[in-house]
Amino acid sequence: MADRLLDGQRVLLGVTGGIAAYKAADLCSKLVQAGAQVDVVMTEAAARFVAPLTFAALSGRPARIDMWSAPGGDPIPHVRMAASTDLVIVAPLSANTLAKLALGLADNLLTATLLATPIAALSKPGFDGGVPWILAPAMESHMWANPLTQAHMVALVARGAAQVGPGRGRLASGAMGAGRMAEPAEILAAARLALARRGPLAGRRVLVTAGGTQEPLDPVRYLTNASSGKMGLALAEAARDLGAAVAVVHAPLAVPMPYGVESVPVRTAQQMCDAVLARAGTTDVLIGAAAVADFRPAEAAGQKIKKTPGQEELLVRLARNPDILGEVAAQRAQTGWPRAVVGFAAETQDLLANAAAKLVAKRLDLIVANDVTEPGSGFGADDNRVTLLFADGRQEALPIMPKAEVADRVLAAVLPLLQPD
Ligand code: C5P
Repeated sequence: MADRLLDGQRVLLGVTGGIAAYKAADLCSKLVQAGAQVDVVMTEAAARFVAPLTFAALSGRPARIDMWSAPGGDPIPHVRMAASTDLVIVAPLSANTLAKLALGLADNLLTATLLATPIAALSKPGFDGGVPWILAPAMESHMWANPLTQAHMVALVARGAAQVGPGRGRLASGAMGAGRMAEPAEILAAARLALARRGPLAGRRVLVTAGGTQEPLDPVRYLTNASSGKMGLALAEAARDLGAAVAVVHAPLAVPMPYGVESVPVRTAQQMCDAVLARAGTTDVLIGAAAVADFRPAEAAGQKIKKTPGQEELLVRLARNPDILGEVAAQRAQTGWPRAVVGFAAETQDLLANAAAKLVAKRLDLIVANDVTEPGSGFGADDNRVTLLFADGRQEALPIMPKAEVADRVLAAVLPLLQPD
């Protein structure tokens, strides 16, 4: 299925000599399936491991090796290819080619093409006229650990290249160590992350809260709720794909953190509140998707609570937790940060009236109201039916849709709330 970031992108996939070259075939296939147009350029050593025909068949385009036999007698294939590339991936990247790239050598079609392709500064929105480079080194651990190799890698990363891997594990020699090429799925994720940096949230920080807080009763028991964290992580992914630097302050989650998103693990509402307030001053958009416990056991027992013979009940006194978005609103009134704040209202009755009241009470720009009694929607589900309520009184009722799409709609509604810097 076409990927929204990779679809239509012209990818130059460099493949150098190493046993991991066989995994580059899988990467090539994944890129093509994502909708990218892939031009494979191999070194002679790479062609000893995997036939160019494999890449030609997967990409539907010739796989090139030779500088001097370009189709149609093109005298400058490296310059032409460099000028028509949106993204560079070199996987696997051998120690030899890494050294050449760092030194600016241009002794084959791949190194000549890459020397003619300026590396984008990913930290700068708009890429500054360059092209993102994703490098996936793979080699024996001694070659990787060599200070010369390390210095070459550092030099390229300093110029803006994104390094993916290498991982630790079994190497071609049979030894265990660092040097395995990153898995194709991870390289693809790194490529998406780089391309997203052209998006409308490039240079912006987004903070999301997610999951159901845990309020301890004793060392092994706690009060919590049915939140899965799926909606929060979907929002984090949507913001990341628009180019934002995203962090998620989250209670324990059953689902993994998306690639490229910073994880800030907490457990209780108080911890979540502290973590959010510490970051609010540098956050452009805060989205409170966590299901925060309004109350916690007033005292958490130091030891596991025991039942005694004949005991029929146990009374637990609860104390009020801080209202995180309320605290943020107070801080924002002083500092102006975060620039935009979005809340969620999960309700079982009087959905819109309750949501509208919370929008005002928590001084939000937008509240996402969802009826958690609706079958197949809300807590733990993959879908959600929500209504967006804006501070200016506008309302937008959305049909039931996957949480990923709800997240896209919420972010689309946030963009106009941000003033240009
Ligand atoms: O008041 P209620 O819990 O229904 O409001 C929901 C919204 O407020 C959500 O965005 C939730 O993350 C946030 N919230 C909070 N601190 C609390 C309770 C809820 O920030 N103590």
